[in-house]
Amino acid sequence: MITKIQQHVKELCEIDQKYGMRAYNTHFLSTVKYAKILAEKLGGDIEIVEIAAWLHDVASIKGEYQEHHIKGAEYAEKYLKGQFNYSQEKIDQVKHCIYAHRGSKDIKRETVEAECVASADAMSHFDDIAAMFGLAYIGHKIIDTEEAKQFVKSKLQRSWNKLIPEAKEIIKDQYDAAMLLLD
Ligand SMILES: [Fe+2]
Ligand SMILES: [Fe+2]
Repeated sequence: MITKIQQHVKELCEIDQKYGMRAYNTHFLSTVKYAKILAEKLGGDIEIVEIAAWLHDVASIKGEYQEHHIKGAEYAEKYLKGQFNYSQEKIDQVKHCIYAHRGSKDIKRETVEAECVASADAMSHFDDIAAMFGLAYIGHKIIDTEEAKQFVKSKLQRSWNKLIPEAKEIIKDQYDAAMLLLD
C-alpha cells in the first residue's frame, strides 16, 4: 500500500510543472524519512505518519497551494477510500495530520502523529539548503543575493520554531551550521 502511495505521489510530481521532481527528491522523501524517525521516537503510528507524510503536500503539487492543507486532506480521503478501502478511522487520522501540518496556519495538532508530520515537514528544509535557495531565486524570483540569503535564513528560522523538542534535538547541528553560514 505504501509503495503504491509513494508511486502515486511520484507520478503526480512528474506531471507537475511548478515543483515537479525537485519537490519529490528534496521535500517528499526527506519529510517521510523524518516523520518515521519521529514516530518511532515518540511512539506514534508509523503507518499513519508515513501515509500522511507522502500525501501532506499533494494538493500543492496539484496546483492548489493556498488551501493545500484542506484540499490535501480531502484528496487523501477520496484516494485512500477509493484505492484501498482504507478504514474511516485511519483516514481521519491521516486527514488530521495533513490538515494541521502547516506552520503558517494556526491549527492545533491533536495527535502525536500530526506533530510528527508537521515537524518532519519543517526538518526537511534543513536537508537541502540549495533547494531553499532555488525556492528564493526561482519560486520567489529574488535576484539580489543578500535578499535571497535573508529569505532562506528567515524561512529556516520559522521552520526551527515550528519543531517539537525531539525534532530540534535531531536537527540542531544543521540549524546551527545554517545560521552560521547565513549570518
Ligand atoms: Fe505543506
Ligand atoms: Fe511540505
